[in-house]
Amino acid sequence: MRKAIIAGNWKMNKTPAEAKALVEALKPLVKDATCDVVVCVPAVDIATVKAAAEGSNIKVAAQNVHFMESGAYTGELSAEMLKAAGAEYVIIGHSERRQYFGETDFTVNKRVLAAVKAGLKVIVCVGEKKEERVDGYTDALVAYQTLIALTGLTDDEVKQVVVAYEPVWAIGTGLVATDEQANETICVIRKAIEGRYGKEVADAVRIQYGGSMKPSNVKGLMAQPEIDGGLIGGASLKAEDFSLVVNYDK
Ligand code: 13P
Repeated sequence: MRKAIIAGNWKMNKTPAEAKALVEALKPLVKDATCDVVVCVPAVDIATVKAAAEGSNIKVAAQNVHFMESGAYTGELSAEMLKAAGAEYVIIGHSERRQYFGETDFTVNKRVLAAVKAGLKVIVCVGEKKEERVDGYTDALVAYQTLIALTGLTDDEVKQVVVAYEPVWAIGTGLVATDEQANETICVIRKAIEGRYGKEVADAVRIQYGGSMKPSNVKGLMAQPEIDGGLIGGASLKAEDFSLVVNYDK
C-alpha cells in the first residue's frame, strides 16, 4: 500500500511572516491527517517554515534546486543549502519552470540526480500541454518525461521519488482533468516505470495528480486507484482550503 502524499505548492507567494502565519494556522487543522503533508515554499521561507512546523506532521519542500554542488552560479541554490535550511523535499521540473525558465528534460534529470545524492526527497513534475493532448501525444510524452527524469537512479532511489502528473492545461485554469483522465495517465506513467524498473519498483512509486485540485474535487480524484496524492497550487494558500484537501478522507 502506498501512503498518500498531499503537497501544497505555494509558488511565488508568502513572505516569511505570511508563511509563518499560514503554517501556524495549518498545524492544528492537519494534525490528524492520514497522508504525508508537505508545503513547498519559496526558498527564503524554508527556515521560518521549518521552525514554525517543528513538532508537527508538516514537512517542508523547496520548489527548485540547482544541479551543481557549489561554485560560480549566481542566484542558484544547491541541494545541501536547501537541506541545511530545513527542506526535506524538493519539487523538480514544474511546468512553470519548463515554460518560463528554460527547464528541459535533461536539466530536470541533472537536478533529480543532485537532489537524491544530497538526500533530498524529490517530487518530479511531468505533464502535457493542451495541444499535445488534443494531438494524441499525452501518453508518449509523460512516459518519456518520466523516464528521462529518473535516468541514473538505482531501483531503491526510484522507489523514493514522488512523480506529480500535472496536465499543463489544468494548472491555475480552474480546468481539472476528469477523475478517469487523471487515473489513466497516471497508469501510463506507472507502466512506463514498470517497463524499465520492474513491477516492484513501479508499485512503490507514489504518483500525485496536480492541476486545480481543491476541496470540491479531491475526493473523486483520490478515490481513483492509481492516484496517490495531490500537488496543490491555489488551494494551498489558505489554511482552511488546504486542510480540507489534506483531510479528503475524513
Ligand atoms: P493549481 O492548483 O493552482 O492549478 O496549481 C497546480 C500546480 O501547479 C501545483 O504545482
